[in-house]
Amino acid sequence: MKKFAAGFFAGAMVLVIGTFGYLRLGLLDVRSDAPLPDMMARLLYAGIHASVRRTAPKAQNPLPRTDETLIAGGKLYLNNCVGCHGEPGKPPSDFGATFYPPAPQFPREGTKYSEAEVFWIAKHGIRRTGMGAQGPYYSDLQLWSLATFVGRLPNLPPNVLEGIQQHPAK
Ligand code: HEC
Repeated sequence: MKKFAAGFFAGAMVLVIGTFGYLRLGLLDVRSDAPLPDMMARLLYAGIHASVRRTAPKAQNPLPRTDETLIAGGKLYLNNCVGCHGEPGKPPSDFGATFYPPAPQFPREGTKYSEAEVFWIAKHGIRRTGMGAQGPYYSDLQLWSLATFVGRLPNLPPNVLEGIQQHPAK
């Protein structure tokens, strides 16, 4: 039993020192244009998703699901999110592809997150990615309208699409 404990302790120390050395020696590749191996990328994405799921409020969207809500969210989206996440009916954003992880192109891909999770991500951002916290710039209701819009983005009703494009927000 003593031997097992000593072995376990030695193994744990090697792991801690190894990780510390790996980071301090600069072996971690931090380039945005050098994608991670697929398995690592999936593991990290799963970690981010689990963290958002755990921390985001379980709150219900307080806004009615009307075209007005979608148009209000759409105008904010056109003003502040398209540069990275892409515009409906346009080619994907080249700028969004310069980040690692790249900014998901909502008009094509949609999102795997729930409305409450999109609200939370828009408010707080995701650390060490291009996704910054938007909380200082929007009220909670504005963030909910953005979340409603992002959730519907891949299949917006045509009149909503017209509504946001005819009257871009100031
Ligand atoms: C400067 C570029 C940039 C801007 C501007 C930006 N984002 Fe992002 N966003 C990103 C990047 C990069 C990611 C990917 C982060 C990740 O996968 O961990 C991201 C991820 C997200 C996600 C998670 C989506 C998913 O399916 O993985 C949401 C939701 C989101 N952004 C919402 C918004 C909203 C709403 C706005 C506008 C208020 C916005 N973003 C503005 C760069 C940006």
